[in-house]
Formats: sequence, C-alpha cells, structure tokens
Amino acid sequence: MEVLRDKASMRAWSRAQRADGRRVGFVPTMGALHEGHLTLVREALARADRVVVSVYVNPSQFGPNEDLDRYPRDEGGDLAKLEELGVHAAFFPADLYDGEGQAPTATSSGRQLAWVEVEQLGLHLCGPSRPGFFRGIATVVTKLFHIVEPDVACFGQKDYQQLTIIRRLVSDLDFGIEIVGVPTVREADGLAASSRNLRLSAEDRVRARAVPASLELVSSLVASGDRDADALLARARALLESGGARVDYVALVDTEKLAPVHHVSGRVLVAVAAWFGDVRLIDSREIVAG
Ligand code: PAJ
Repeated sequence: MEVLRDKASMRAWSRAQRADGRRVGFVPTMGALHEGHLTLVREALARADRVVVSVYVNPSQFGPNEDLDRYPRDEGGDLAKLEELGVHAAFFPADLYDGEGQAPTATSSGRQLAWVEVEQLGLHLCGPSRPGFFRGIATVVTKLFHIVEPDVACFGQKDYQQLTIIRRLVSDLDFGIEIVGVPTVREADGLAASSRNLRLSAEDRVRARAVPASLELVSSLVASGDRDADALLARARALLESGGARVDYVALVDTEKLAPVHHVSGRVLVAVAAWFGDVRLIDSREIVAG
C-alpha cells in the first residue's frame, strides 16, 4: 500500500492508475477507522480496480465548541487496517489548505475565500445546530475529489444528510463521479458504529440504545398504520427522553429535500440527534409507508 502525504503525489498516483485504464475508487474519512468505515472500503474494493482511502480530520467542518481537538487520531491503527483490507493507497494530506496552521473552521474562513455551498439541503436536521458544518464538508469533499479524481466514491447512509448533499453537489456541478451510499453498520446493541461511541460512559452507552430503539418504534408504528408525523415524533421523543437523552432533534423528513413532512406517505426518513453527556449521536432510518 502506498502512503501519500501531499496533493501532488496523490494526484499523480491516481492519474497513473487511470492512464493504465484502471477504475479508481475513493473513501474519504476522518480516521479512527471502525467497522462502518471498513464496510465502505470493502464496497469500494468491489467496485474499482484501485482504492484510495483518505484520512483527514477536517477543521472546516468543526465549530468552536465542537470536538476537533478531542477527535480521535490513530494513524498506526488506521494504516494497519487499510493494509489488511488490501487498500492500494492511503492519503494522509498534510497540505490540504494553504498553511495548515491557518486552516479554516466551520465558523471562521481563515485564508479560504472559495467555498462550496449546497443550498436548502443544509437547512434542516443537523444544519441549524451546526452552522458552517455542511459548507465545510462540501468544500473539503470537493477538494478531495479534485485531488483524487476518482471514478466512484462511497459514503455511509449513517450520515444521511451528508450523503444527500454530496449526491446533489456531484450532480449539480457535474463531477462525473459515481456516488454509492452504503447502509449503516451497527454494533451488537444496535448503535450505529461511530468513533464517538467510545466517548460514552458505560451508563450512557446503555441509555444510547434509545436512539436506534426510537427509529425502530417510529418504523413499527408506521407499519401498523400511524401516519401523523407530530404524534409519531412525540412517541420517539418520549422514548429518548425517558432514557435520559437530551434531544437535539427528532424529525420525519422527505428523502430528497430533507424537509419536514406532516403526513407520512411513500419513502421518508426518520432522523435523530441526541446528546448523552457531552457526546452527540446521530442516527436515521428510511421508512416506506405502504
Ligand atoms: P467520517 O465520520 O470519518 O466518516 C467517513 C465515512 O464513513 C462517511 O461516509 C460516513 O457516513 C461513513 N460511516 C461512518 N460510520 C458509519 C457506519 N456506522 N455505517 C456506515 N458508514 C459509516 O463523514 C466524514 O468522516 C467526513 O464528513 C468526510 C466525508 C470525510 C469529510 O470530511
């Protein structure tokens, strides 16, 4: 496996693969790799001849009170996992922004003047509580796409709003990259795999089961005929709060615009963000109302 640390050698490597007629697959990550990430990597390996995984904790998607400094970093562990899976190139960019010391954050632009913004899709769900978050993601993913120039890239449905925004970015701006959404990987107790799970206390880890349970509750109520979003969401919120969660949002939205629905019909998304101590977890699930 090649380990590449600057933009120029990453781009040269990728262009050499494509010049040889190979299809390049790409999985962008922020590292501390877990089974969710590794599932994306396996999907990319199945869809491409050569696979690049990037590891970059992107400052431009972290706000001032968010966990940029506490975000777990484990380069040695990540490299070992990628090597074992048979990844062809690991990209740990050290020069992604001009002068890393001045990399922009979600709320301060630093030296960055050009940003990528996908309108409307960032207004709901995580948008209101994380100003600048999706702008930071759309911008760094654009940069990475321009450096890696992949044919196909894999993203998790766990971050459904992110996936929706990236699909739209790629289609509206003609990136010519196939975007593959990969179903959420869960741990044995139902929690979506996330590096943040490791920061939960033992008690909060048990309480956090209410997150997937609330999605399951809404899904089964819809299956048994309930269609009123407010009533469904009140049930989900009660379940979360009785488990000790501080709810950021629980929402039923359409799967295209991610705007709230009042009456459930067809395909919808039920999505939750909730705090357990100082850990914010998100999860979601698509539901099809018959
Ligand atoms: P990160 O949180 O490291 O996630 C990298 C990719 O792994 C994302 O596509 C995410 O949706 C996926 N993923 C995480 N947990 C998952 C799970 N339990 N099941 C399935 N997929 C899962 O998302 C980011 O990094 C960043 O925003 C990034 C896109 C790299 C831009 O900085």
